[in-house]
Amino acid sequence: MTVREEIEQLKKEKNAVILAHYYVRPEVQELADYIGDSFYLSKVAVGLGEQTIVFCGVSFMGESAKILNPEKTVLMPDAAADCAMAHMADAETIRQMRERYEDLAVVCYINSTAELKRHSDVCVTSANAVNIVRALPNRNIFFIPDRHLAHYVAGQVPEKNFVYNDGFCPIHAQIRSDEIRRKKEAHPQVLVLVHPECPDTVAAMADYTGSTSGIIGFAEKSSAKEFIICTEVGVEYELMKRCPEKRFYFTETVPVCQDMKRITPEKILHVLKTGENEVILDEGLRTESKRPLERMLALG
Ligand code: 13P
Ligand code: SF4
Repeated sequence: MTVREEIEQLKKEKNAVILAHYYVRPEVQELADYIGDSFYLSKVAVGLGEQTIVFCGVSFMGESAKILNPEKTVLMPDAAADCAMAHMADAETIRQMRERYEDLAVVCYINSTAELKRHSDVCVTSANAVNIVRALPNRNIFFIPDRHLAHYVAGQVPEKNFVYNDGFCPIHAQIRSDEIRRKKEAHPQVLVLVHPECPDTVAAMADYTGSTSGIIGFAEKSSAKEFIICTEVGVEYELMKRCPEKRFYFTETVPVCQDMKRITPEKILHVLKTGENEVILDEGLRTESKRPLERMLALG
């Protein structure tokens, strides 16, 4: 039997379903029952019929699935696949900000640990952050951990006062405006599609800014034929699937999230066989971090 056939058989035997983010390897995306951005995956994870969720993504994604679905078994194909940015904020700074600002909402990007979510008022993803921040009654917003997404949202919601945190995605930080400029010189017709985790110099060059799903949807609907894609290279697989006639360019320094690439079909098979790498959360942490996630789903 091939790895794929074994996975299919075990999925049936164990009543399991595979979720995958667009940044994982193409051969993993091919095995997934649901592929999407962080917002789509968090919505899909709620209300699945299967008992076991195999989450092909980094740890905050599996954690969020478990927080929202405590009765389910959530398995991570690689327990070491983590998001560096998810750790780039701290509870003590949140406490200080709450003291300093009246009427503060702590808005937590879903790319964060459960511990950070627990201290936050609402979660957001790159797909819903603008709408959720706009809908909050609070004027003062402490946005954690990503300063670049915070800058983007602040630009869209100028009526709010933003307090910035110093976190960032090391992968999107590699995307450079001078490399985009060179690509544009070589392909003058291109549109520049930017993920809001990118640095401000890149954001300033965007013809469109949005989450991974937003970028894919924009490219699909656009009458343009060539695009510079400013996000992790894993999205190329879905872009090529949906728009084989269009051309997609990445910057010379290709943005690759090595943590996402840790996941392989063999590791999916292994956790399905053994039940290893189950996400286990302390019950107090789980219930307290559930609140901001549920608020996101209600508002988003
Ligand atoms: P989205 O899935 O919201 O596009 O975010 C990208 C990302 O960095 C996920 O880790
Ligand atoms: Fe985290 Fe960046 Fe990797 Fe997304 S691409 S998982 S934000 S390190």
